[in-house]
Amino acid sequence: MMKSTAIANSNIALIKYWGKRDQNLFLPQNSSISMTLDGLNTTTTVEFDSKYKEDEVVINGKRAEGKVKDKITRHIDIIRKKAGITERAKIVTQNNFPTAAGLASSASGFAALTLASSRAAGLDLNEKELSILSRMGSGSACRSVVGGFVKWVKGREKDGSDSYAIQLAPPDWWDIRMIVLVIESGEKKIKSRAGMQKTVETCPYYRCWLDTIENDIEEVEKGIKERDIELVGQAAERNALKMHALMFTTIPPIIYWKPETIKAIEEVFKMREEGIKAYFTMDAGPNVKILCTSNESEKVRKVFESREYIKQVIVCPPGEGVREVNEHLF
Ligand code: DP6
Repeated sequence: MMKSTAIANSNIALIKYWGKRDQNLFLPQNSSISMTLDGLNTTTTVEFDSKYKEDEVVINGKRAEGKVKDKITRHIDIIRKKAGITERAKIVTQNNFPTAAGLASSASGFAALTLASSRAAGLDLNEKELSILSRMGSGSACRSVVGGFVKWVKGREKDGSDSYAIQLAPPDWWDIRMIVLVIESGEKKIKSRAGMQKTVETCPYYRCWLDTIENDIEEVEKGIKERDIELVGQAAERNALKMHALMFTTIPPIIYWKPETIKAIEEVFKMREEGIKAYFTMDAGPNVKILCTSNESEKVRKVFESREYIKQVIVCPPGEGVREVNEHLF
């Protein structure tokens, strides 16, 4: 049997995915748009062999057990079924950034796992097929299959065959940066999966989110096409705030914000008053991500590196989609 290794970049949504219409197939309520990030990545090696008596999973040097392992085994089962094999696998995976810190490790993780395991199982899948399969591990993972500026089209079909990510523009289309400010790097308390489900079930404003999302999407698509940082930044910032407003008004409330989150946001507003075109976005955690042009990214980086309440500043250009590499992790 074959061994394969894949590397996938993380992605940050400019228009957020928050809510599913189908839990089992990971079909979203709305389309979303993201930028694939160079520099925040996951490398995964998969080998199927009859010498393995059960699936063995190692994440960042530690043997995975319980729920984390089950999620991965379930995903590998989908691949085994598709390839018509029964061998157990060894899976070793390494992130170059903190896991579950709101930095979308599940996105790069499942994109890398899908490519490495499908290749190791002898499958040769195209980008669309890889995106659909990655989606079934974690929704946002379908976007990490594709490089640059990406749209996850929500689709209409019941079987999910038209719900996958497409490229809006390649990484070199636009020289912008996503600057990740790490405020907390520990594991988050409420996972996106459970949180978004509660929002769909209980948030009185969810209708309004769905009614206004297509307009947000149009603005970001137009902004990417025209390389207009103000248009993209403003729409992305508003969309992130709208998602957090949904979270606040979910029962029970989901509040990821920390005092440092507000401090960072106020600094972004201040930068804008001074003429720097910087805009923020946030995900299911307290960390703040800032979108700006490459020209202004050094200024923004310097400001936040001098702040004692920011643990780490990571500057990411647009990155490539998932790909196979020759160096294996074992
Ligand atoms: C806030 O993709 O992690 O980052 O599909 O249940 O695995 P599951 O959820 P996940 O949710 C990501 C939510 C988000 C917004 C986004 O990335 O679009």
